[in-house]
Order: sequence, then structure tokens, then C-alpha cells
Amino acid sequence: MKIGFVQFNPIFGEKNSNCDTVKNLLHGVSADVIVLPELFNTGYTFLNKAEVAMLAETKNGKTADFMLSLAQEKKCCFAYGFAEKNKNFFYDSMALMSPDGLIGVYRKSHLFFEEKKFFQPGNTGFHVYTYKNVKLGMLICFDWIYPEATRTLALKGAQIILHPANLVTPYCPDAMITRAIENRIYIVTADRIGKEKRDKKELSFIGKSQVVSPKGEILIRAETEECVKIVDIDPDLALNKKFNQYNNLFDDRREDLYFK
Ligand code: ACM
Repeated sequence: MKIGFVQFNPIFGEKNSNCDTVKNLLHGVSADVIVLPELFNTGYTFLNKAEVAMLAETKNGKTADFMLSLAQEKKCCFAYGFAEKNKNFFYDSMALMSPDGLIGVYRKSHLFFEEKKFFQPGNTGFHVYTYKNVKLGMLICFDWIYPEATRTLALKGAQIILHPANLVTPYCPDAMITRAIENRIYIVTADRIGKEKRDKKELSFIGKSQVVSPKGEILIRAETEECVKIVDIDPDLALNKKFNQYNNLFDDRREDLYFK
């Protein structure tokens, strides 16, 4: 299975142009599953809730239409972050869009910093979806710092975790190596790059999008360049939780001792 990511610098509020950038970057690329960054279409640095309201969409909105047509054109499943409007609430969400339509939506559970001013904490929980016989889980950016989130998806059978991000601290790319090793899964982190300056706020994003294997190998990692990177993997490797002949990482869990 060929999996990978698009890393680029979304321009705040320019949804059409951000979608065009993704489409252009994917020219000539073929893969089974591709991850785009968190909030790839809107940008990240909202100044107020009115901006969120103006840019957010339902899970069936115009960005979903664009992603469906891209999924059909590329014969590829896309995981992408977007600002979701649902009734009167806004979520930092991601969708999994296959050529046959929307597979699932995940709403970020652990909001970071000022996201708490603009979004509701996610209420979807952690679910696993099957595409081409492979079990896929979804996490968004700061969810990485809660090992329980990754573990829950792994225990539910996720072989690959799709992880759109807008990283502003340096820790995640290396931390995800541990998340992958301790759960014996693949993790695809698709980060953004660039600086976003809005009013008095300025954020720099670290890039370093990557695909990590169940053994913690960095199969591909970007630096801070605009790029698409794809790698061929064997998803079945994530089904084997044996660490050595004595240790099966999941069978050896001491549920009788945790959280007591
Ligand atoms: C983050 O969760 N966007 C850092």
C-alpha cells in the first residue's frame, strides 16, 4: 500500500487557492492514502469566532466536494483537516474521503492553546475505519501528547494512524516514533510549514511531516519544504504485536494494575 503526505503552507482564509495548491502538488502523484495538514483549507490562526463561523463548513460542504472529486481523479483516499460547522458548534475536524465517498469524520479531542477559544472539544471518540482491507485510525495534532488516544485506536485494530497537524513545538515528530513502537503501528503525520502572521499573532510551523513504521523507523521525513512524499508499506506488519518470542505488547498489558 502506498501512503504519504502533502506538506505545504496554507494561506489564511484562501480556501480555493489552498485547494488548488494541493491539487497542483499532487499532479502526477499516485498513492492509496494521502494525508493533508490540519485545517489545510482555512489556515490556523483565527482571530475570533466570527472568522471560524465564516470559514467553517459542514462535513458535506464545498471542501468535501473538492476532496471527493480529487479522490476520484487520483483513485486515492484522503485524510484532511478542516474547520467543521455542525449546528451551532465548531470543531477542529478531519475527514476520511475515499473515491466512493465520505468514510468518516473525527473531531480533535485535545484542543491546543487558543483553539479552546474557537472550537468545541471533539465528541466523536476514536474509531477505526477500513479502506482496501486496512484499518485506519484518525488523530489530529495535539492528540499526539495523550498516549491513550493512540493506544485506543491501536487496541481497536488501527494499522495506520492518519495524523494531520499544525505543529508549533518541536516534540511531536520524535514522540511519534515511540507511539509507533509501543503500538506496533504506522503513523503518518502531515504537518504544515511557513509562518502565519495575523494582527499581533505570529506562529511558525515546524514541518517535519513523516511516515513512521511499526518498528519506529522514519520511512520518510520532510524538513520545511513544500512537498509530497509517498512510501510503499506492508500494512500487515502492524498486525504483529510480538516484540520478541516472550513479549506480545498487547497480550502483556497489565490491565489489572492500570488506573487503580
Ligand atoms: C496543534 O495541536 N495544532 C499544535
